[in-house]
Amino acid sequence: MKRGVTIFILSTVVVLGFAVHSVWTLLGLLVATGREDAILRGELPAPNSGTINERPQLIPKIIHQTYKNESIPEHWKGPQQSCLDLHPDYEYKLWTDKKAREFIAAEYPWFLETFDGYPYPIQRADAIRYFVLHHFGGIYIDLDDGCNRSLDPLLAYPAWVRRTLPTGISNDAMGSVPRHPFFLKAIDSLTDYNRRWPLPYITVMASTGPLYLSIIWRHYNNASPDDENRVRILFPDEYNNHPWSFFTHHVGNSWHNTDVKIIFWLARHWVFVTFVGFLLGFSLLGMLYKIFILNKQPLSPRLSPKTRGFERFAYTRIPFYRRISSKDLELEDRHEV
Ligand SMILES: *[C@@H]1O[C@H](CO)[C@@H](O)[C@H](O)[C@H]1NC(C)=O
Repeated sequence: MKRGVTIFILSTVVVLGFAVHSVWTLLGLLVATGREDAILRGELPAPNSGTINERPQLIPKIIHQTYKNESIPEHWKGPQQSCLDLHPDYEYKLWTDKKAREFIAAEYPWFLETFDGYPYPIQRADAIRYFVLHHFGGIYIDLDDGCNRSLDPLLAYPAWVRRTLPTGISNDAMGSVPRHPFFLKAIDSLTDYNRRWPLPYITVMASTGPLYLSIIWRHYNNASPDDENRVRILFPDEYNNHPWSFFTHHVGNSWHNTDVKIIFWLARHWVFVTFVGFLLGFSLLGMLYKIFILNKQPLSPRLSPKTRGFERFAYTRIPFYRRISSKDLELEDRHEV
């Protein structure tokens, strides 16, 4: 019985250890604020300030966007035009499915098999943005994001991404110099993270999307604390909450399915979900404990099968604080002999 308990506790510890280890990066994401890498509003020149041109311009003046073909839907033409209008001196690259595939085949042929094999088109749209930023540098903007002011001040950082609340970073607007180590890590890890999960939304998020990039960001942060290559973080206020923010957001997540609703519901009720999870987990452990440890108590071998049944019955009827182990019963028997 003692050995059983020890094994039980040990295996519980091992299972819990594995569980915590496998979600360690995710747990880390919950507490990673990115504050230490924030692009502070104080360092950003006002929209029409003359000091904008005095700042270094590290990121090349290129705007990247993606769509399946050249016919951009009507509701995204407004946001797209707002970015074109504010950046007449920028090169504009629209990565259609065809161009994206040709680019990968020509420049990153080792990735073509994974690229072609993605089950969801949005995964290719996610992946291509990391590759073009790594290759050309520039600023990637989702088609549903419009520009609210010139992005020139953001050219002053070697790489920047946007913080999302409550956790992680997004891949809907990002800037980088060519061959930045963060985007190198992002393209290099894609094949490792190319896994299928039970829901399409999770598969997309974790294999190429914002969750993937957040995990890469988390690992990258830990790996390179040196200042020069750190990835700066654009916070919501600077992103799109105010008249002086950089972007405006327009509705239109074209690939959201029903599983998104489930995920969002889980995210909104995460305290409840965590609680239920723990409850289920511990009930299961309790049940296993009962089945495998408590029921294994050896019964007195000298009792006949009939009395044994009776003994078990009697045993269960005694309140737990007055219960005696079967060893005690055995000793008592011996005493009587
Ligand atoms: C682009 O894709 C849309 C939607 O699938 C389609 O209706 C349209 O005809 C395509 N345009 C071109 C130029 O192929």
